[in-house]
Amino acid sequence: MATPLFQALPGTRDLLPPETDRMRSLVSIFADEASQAGFGQVTPPIFEDIQVFVRIGEATDVVSKELYSFEDKGGRQIALRPEQTASICRVYAERRPITPWKAWYYGPNFRQEKPQKGRYRQFDQVGAEVIGSHDPDVDVELIAMASRFYTRLGLTDVSLLINSLGDKADRPRYLEALVNHFERDIDALSEQSRHTLSLNPLRVLDSKRPQDAELVAAAPVLADYLSHEASAAFDRVTTGLDALGVSYTVAPRLVRGLDYYTRTTFEFAADSLDAAQNAVGGGGRYDGLVADLGGPEDPGVGFALGVERTLLACDAEGVFAAPERGIDVWVVCTAESPAALVLVDELRQAGFRADRAFDGRSMKAQMKAANRSNAPVAVIVGDDEMASGSVSIRPMQGQGEQAAVRRDQMISTIAELLGAKE
Ligand code: HAM
Repeated sequence: MATPLFQALPGTRDLLPPETDRMRSLVSIFADEASQAGFGQVTPPIFEDIQVFVRIGEATDVVSKELYSFEDKGGRQIALRPEQTASICRVYAERRPITPWKAWYYGPNFRQEKPQKGRYRQFDQVGAEVIGSHDPDVDVELIAMASRFYTRLGLTDVSLLINSLGDKADRPRYLEALVNHFERDIDALSEQSRHTLSLNPLRVLDSKRPQDAELVAAAPVLADYLSHEASAAFDRVTTGLDALGVSYTVAPRLVRGLDYYTRTTFEFAADSLDAAQNAVGGGGRYDGLVADLGGPEDPGVGFALGVERTLLACDAEGVFAAPERGIDVWVVCTAESPAALVLVDELRQAGFRADRAFDGRSMKAQMKAANRSNAPVAVIVGDDEMASGSVSIRPMQGQGEQAAVRRDQMISTIAELLGAKE
């Protein structure tokens, strides 16, 4: 094949059937879980004032390196959203809905990352946020919802890691201890981590570089620096998860790539995927974010799940195949136009998935198309049938003979044939 004039940009993908069908079905399962738990769907715009996203943390890669930003013709500084939590908080601050406000969402996000399998520049997330409640039961409810969603897809190899990052007030003492720890052995630390240490010390804990492994493993943990309240809240979360039978591992050095987190943080890892891209979802509390966006001091908690990565995990486990998208009835029509149009329309209105060939193809070519479609039933109409007000109905997969029926019996005859097949 000749090289095409244009190709999809790096880190972007064209989605075609059956992947699009699979995606739709995944979102509908998520929507079902979310609405059962009292969430309503919220769809913020794909781009916002860049300052909305700067609140995710100026020292994070997502904001400092990966934002797609531009100035619009009105001179506004705009960015494509890299995630949706900040947007949902902006919606909340702007509209002040009744609390607790439970919102779920689905849609694309944009991060200018180095593309690789499972890491794209445009990727979809499904997610849920609850704003306006401090209750750790809400954290548990959210985690359980995400976990049930994975189970409904058929995934069994997904583990849940949880940690508490404490309150903002717990942070300075801990950060001091952390920085001291790394500085004592600064020469042993990788160059990248030394740089990270100067910008965002917590993120050093996320280093996957072998050179840093020993120092990271020996680093002080936040659990030892939590306030009594934060510690009690975390106990409530683990007790709640136990009560619901959701299994988890406490990961005392789990930190996340976004800066707004407080208290509960968690990540879902698909053990069937390569470690570098095995985070299929994550979330946590962000108790100061709404206020940072000009809203009230209301707390929030939520999660987002990566749709593409979740589907890669499904592939790796051999679960959640694309749904069947077959045709029920193929119309083969050599009678004059618009006979085929009318027949197909009638069949579709009766609820059948119906299709046909175009461009005045011969009877033979149309029969070939009918075979290729795998439709269990073909309706055949030529000039003779038109003249006698009948249609010929042919079962295509060997259940009975072709038979002529009166036109007004077409729908009921096909319904019977298809019913018998099921
Ligand atoms: P995040 O960890 O940045 O959190 O992203 C959540 C999930 O989105 C990841 O676990 C991953 O599956 C997927 N993801 C992230 N970046 C990419 C990428 N470049 N390509 C493919 N998939 C990707 C958030 O976005 C937070 N807003 C989650 C949250 C909600 N926290 C509280 N509420």
